[in-house]
Amino acid sequence: MLHFLWDSITLQTFLISLFVFLLVADYMKNRNPRNFPPTPFRLPFLGHIYLMDFKDPAVMVRKLSKRYGDIFGIHMGSMKFVMVNGMRLVREVLINQGDKFMERPDFPIDEQVFSKIGLVSSSGHLWKAQRRFTLSTLRNFGLGKRSLEERIQEECQFLGDVFRDEQGNPFNPQLKVTNAVANVICSLIFGNRFDYHDEDFQSLLKLMYEMTVLHGSITSQLYNNFPSIMKYLPGAHHTIIKNWRLLRKFMQEQINKHKEDWNPSESRDYIDSYLLEISKDHDSDTFREEHLMACTLDLMFAGIETTSSTLRWALLFMAIHPEIQARVQAEIDAVIGQARPPALEDRNNLHYTNAVIHEVQRKGNVVPFNVPRMASEDAYVDGYFIPKGTGIMANLSSLMFDKNEWKTPEHFNPEHFLKDGKFWKNEYFIPFSLGKRSCLGELLARSELFLFFTSLLQKFTFQAPPDTKLSLQPMIGIAMAPKPYKICAVPR
Ligand code: HEM
Ligand SMILES: *[C@@H]1O[C@H](CO)[C@@H](O)[C@H](O)[C@H]1NC(C)=O
Repeated sequence: MLHFLWDSITLQTFLISLFVFLLVADYMKNRNPRNFPPTPFRLPFLGHIYLMDFKDPAVMVRKLSKRYGDIFGIHMGSMKFVMVNGMRLVREVLINQGDKFMERPDFPIDEQVFSKIGLVSSSGHLWKAQRRFTLSTLRNFGLGKRSLEERIQEECQFLGDVFRDEQGNPFNPQLKVTNAVANVICSLIFGNRFDYHDEDFQSLLKLMYEMTVLHGSITSQLYNNFPSIMKYLPGAHHTIIKNWRLLRKFMQEQINKHKEDWNPSESRDYIDSYLLEISKDHDSDTFREEHLMACTLDLMFAGIETTSSTLRWALLFMAIHPEIQARVQAEIDAVIGQARPPALEDRNNLHYTNAVIHEVQRKGNVVPFNVPRMASEDAYVDGYFIPKGTGIMANLSSLMFDKNEWKTPEHFNPEHFLKDGKFWKNEYFIPFSLGKRSCLGELLARSELFLFFTSLLQKFTFQAPPDTKLSLQPMIGIAMAPKPYKICAVPR
């Protein structure tokens, strides 16, 4: 009896000491360095997961910034992040000290896919080389030149046709718009567009969309926080990993086709140009097929959902504000008329329309907290110490909704971008971020937004379906998109 009691006490003591040991280890490991930005109370083992609102992450951080001000720390799993708000600090981390915050953190969920290669998550020399190559290649295939503009105009025509097929009845524009935007990127990458009725391609787009939504899901957030446990549990993270495999397979087929009929003296598209670079780059590790794969999928991921969500916000705002829509149409009719398609040149003469597109991007706010960066060396921001390896998030919406800069920050109001009836750009408008690592596709995105938007409004009036109230509720994923909705495109 006594023997048994003794045994159980030692077991208990052992368990308690183990627990205390783990608690201390957890504390030591996650302890903030001296002078780190103010950080909310952190639960042992669980960190800040209790602060997350999985329906609307913006809510959790809204509470935090109210309490902690323009710069504060937050723990996600084993990684520390610093969030900065407001023009002064956002410029400080993206521009003035931009070189110290030029890297990206690794999220466990994305590590399953590529870590540290491609365009979005690479760093240092590798990132510089991939980015420079991609920018110059996009330029060669006509970014800012005529040929790409024509390609987009052609796609506008196709998109108009499938909208017309709906005969003014309510429909969800999501897949069609996404297909159109994807076609522009696909023709740059591998010289192909896909018909809107191509079921294989549509299912690929659905996979991509599913992934962006799943990224906001509870289980994939938990995975980012506790990868070693979640690996063994069911949930969305497995779907994300499975979908990546399918997307890679699709891209591998495109790459293989290009390798078969490759002609080094004549590059047709991005893949051809990259293959040429690989053939020139025998000795170094910079241009390799695995990196080509990562770059192409990065372009699709970064370029499709962001642009498509913005266009879906645009249609929604037009249906909700018929008087604004009518003014856009009147301007298009006066400047372009109905006889020819809109061209990029027209932008300089379409002041109101241009202001509306900017306001759609401001209010749509599709990348509210920027894509996370990481400190590549120790740094000081606003007197606080930010050690190497800390994640940095720049709250882009803190500029685009700044109460002191915009007349009605919470309301859709094209006057934000007009002065004396002329288009006027506000420096607090930063949907593509700032500095050397800002959006690589900005020029392409702005061309697409302008041409798709004006050509749709040239042809259609967008209206809520009868007896329906359209909602501006956002949906959280990689990009902040409007919730799926149905709309009527009434031919003009
Ligand atoms: C409305 C559409 C778009 C928005 C709002 C948007 C926004 C952004 C933002 C905020 C970033 C993060 C920049 C930073 O870290 O400071 C980014 C990065 C990036 N975007 Fe876009 N983007 C859009 C369209 C596109 C398109 C069409 C492409 C494809 C050509 C593209 C390709 C990229 C790439 C490759 C990066 C990573 C750049 C790097 O890490 O060097 N984006 N974008
Ligand atoms: C980001 O900025 C918006 C607009 O000012 C604000 O409501 C929100 O609380 C900020 N979020 C964070 C994380 O600081």
